[in-house]
Amino acid sequence: MIDAACAAPDHRRLRPWRFILIRNDQRTMLANLFEVAARETHGTLSEDQTERAREKALNGACLIAVVGIIRDDVSDAPPHEQWVSVGAAVQNILLTATSFGFGSMIVSGDKVKTSALQKGLGLSAIEQFLGFVAVGTVSKQPAPADRPRAEDVFSVWGQVDL
Ligand SMILES: Cc1cc2nc3c(=O)[nH]c(=O)nc-3n(C[C@H](O)[C@H](O)[C@H](O)COP(=O)(O)O)c2cc1C
Repeated sequence: MIDAACAAPDHRRLRPWRFILIRNDQRTMLANLFEVAARETHGTLSEDQTERAREKALNGACLIAVVGIIRDDVSDAPPHEQWVSVGAAVQNILLTATSFGFGSMIVSGDKVKTSALQKGLGLSAIEQFLGFVAVGTVSKQPAPADRPRAEDVFSVWGQVDL
């Protein structure tokens, strides 16, 4: 899956992404980190809020943190192009997971912006935490998604008067 991520389109070969596997024996440590992050965002937590923050650390049989490393000093590969590359890398992971027969999803949430997560994941100052890709066996088929139709987002270029 990570090989597929590394095949993402990448203008100027900046490699604006990296990925960190959360091992399953680290889930309690991750739950502790999520609790600290929730306190950073919401202040004092009720027992229920604490439980909800912690249980997210158990999601997905395989959990991979996605990190963007976005430079603003490359004029012909500006930040938005680098984020496109991060998104393409993520999509390659999702598609590869699907091809292996797994379900997968990217999730973020308000905790991704916390200094707790920044520090806890060991990110440097130029690195930004995007979210987690969760991969696992699908236990319940989701309802069909309400997706736009092709004709809603696709047109043929028309005549332009210059
Ligand atoms: C960067 C990013 C972050 C996301 N974060 C969340 C999230 O925190 N929670 C959530 O329910 N969906 C989140 N989503 C949406 C899901 O990944 C997914 O697209 C959505 O559940 C619909 O599933 P489907 O695309 O398979 O229909 C996020 C999507 C992106 C692109």
